[in-house]
Amino acid sequence: MAGGVVVNTAGGKEYPGKLTLFVFLTCVVAATGGLIFGYDIGISGGVTSMDSFLLKFFPSVYRKEKEDQSTNQYCKFDSQLLTTFTSSLYLAALIASFFASAVTRTFGRKWSMFGGGITFLVGAALNGAAENVLMLILGRILLGIGVGFANQSVPVYLSEMAPARLRGMLNIGFQLMITIGILCANLINYGTAKIKGGWGWRVSLALAAVPAGIITVGSLFLPDTPNSLIERGYDAKAQKMLRRIRGTDDIAEEFNDLVAASDESKLVKHPWANIIKRKYRPQLTMAILIPLFQQLTGINVIMFYAPVLFKTIGFGSDASLMSAVITGLVNVFATFVSIFTADKLGRRKLFLQGGSQMLACQIVVGTLIAIKFGTSGEAVLSKTYAAFVVLFICVYVAGFAWSWGPLGWLVPSEIFPLEIRSAGQSINVSVNMFFTFVIAQAFLAMLCHMKFGLFYFFGGWVVIMTTFIALFLPETKNVPIEEMVLVWKSHWFWSKFIADEEIHVGSSIELGNGKPKDATI
Ligand code: BGC
Repeated sequence: MAGGVVVNTAGGKEYPGKLTLFVFLTCVVAATGGLIFGYDIGISGGVTSMDSFLLKFFPSVYRKEKEDQSTNQYCKFDSQLLTTFTSSLYLAALIASFFASAVTRTFGRKWSMFGGGITFLVGAALNGAAENVLMLILGRILLGIGVGFANQSVPVYLSEMAPARLRGMLNIGFQLMITIGILCANLINYGTAKIKGGWGWRVSLALAAVPAGIITVGSLFLPDTPNSLIERGYDAKAQKMLRRIRGTDDIAEEFNDLVAASDESKLVKHPWANIIKRKYRPQLTMAILIPLFQQLTGINVIMFYAPVLFKTIGFGSDASLMSAVITGLVNVFATFVSIFTADKLGRRKLFLQGGSQMLACQIVVGTLIAIKFGTSGEAVLSKTYAAFVVLFICVYVAGFAWSWGPLGWLVPSEIFPLEIRSAGQSINVSVNMFFTFVIAQAFLAMLCHMKFGLFYFFGGWVVIMTTFIALFLPETKNVPIEEMVLVWKSHWFWSKFIADEEIHVGSSIELGNGKPKDATI
């Protein structure tokens, strides 16, 4: 069968087929799973800065904030109790993603999304109606479970549905929905903060039901991916689905490869025990380091605390929220850059360019703040000076939005062989959630102690992660997902971890001298 195979320069075959309307719409619906995550990232910061919310649930925090006469801008707003409220969700998501792994593998990706949507919906209702801290925290735990399930299943679903050469574009729909969720939440907070009766926060929290409703209902209409159908023994259905999503009858090649991948994966009874095997070391390393690095870019300092940060550098409340809306807009629009380039330029170029841009901005912002606030934390900024700070923060956000933001979800979802895909994605989600939690929890204290140096701190991490990508991440654009092993096998470092006999990528790739014949990085 090796005869008619087209091999592309990125190291994989190209299967026949086009982007069908069906697959496009399917991916749009599935990507809406990102809305719930985004909405939550954007909503908590604003709600926890509303006086009526603090008075009802965290009166001691409220009193402390009002009594605080300190002029040191770096150390205002520091309350561990309040940040626990924000970050409890990420711990719930972390744990949930492990359960989601079993659901995703056994019942298919769509039921994980459905489960995530429903749980988030209940959490939103509980939060909107909250009368005490218990209801509030319980609600947040349910929201977290919802996010854990959605983030586990949606990226994998998108990567499996998409034709290889458009996988980047379709997968990044998830990140686009995250950014839209964040922006909507920022806008909603901007409006509800102005509600006089003290119930604005209820509206903000309850409106989380809207994105939850979208993914819950949407998921019911989603078909299963061919990979998941084969994994669960529905070969005939999978064949039909593949024809439908690729818009051609010429699917034998791809189907055979999927079946081969599935046969191989059936030999693996315990994905968790397997993932630690030496041959999976490259994928496991990426599943841990990519989400870790994504959070160490420091992006969530901006996403969670933009209003606080802008207040710190001298904006009024209203101006602070407005600036958060501006960074939110930049975040959405810059994501399109990666949608249109990830499959052409490739993942590596975006990572390297985005990283350099973020680093430059972190140095500038840190220095601008150092010049005015020094270590005492006292300063008044002129309008122009403050505008410069916002400008560089926006350029930083743009750099993230076309590199680590989307690629932090795309790359892990496309590199695992089927037998460890669900488990691998759980590791990705849980590492991401854990470090989101750590940063949410530690940021205010870090700002207080490291002062402007906080920007240099995250900048230092960006240097490390960019070097890591340059050395260790092979290019994965356009490579069919079930053939990814060839990419690792031809990498200067990772090839050592994979023995020749461990490469089975269907019947159609020939191996000569132990090397994948046509694969390059
Ligand atoms: C990250 C989030 C972040 C968001 C910003 C996502 O990819 O996982 O932590 O808040 O991007 O757009």
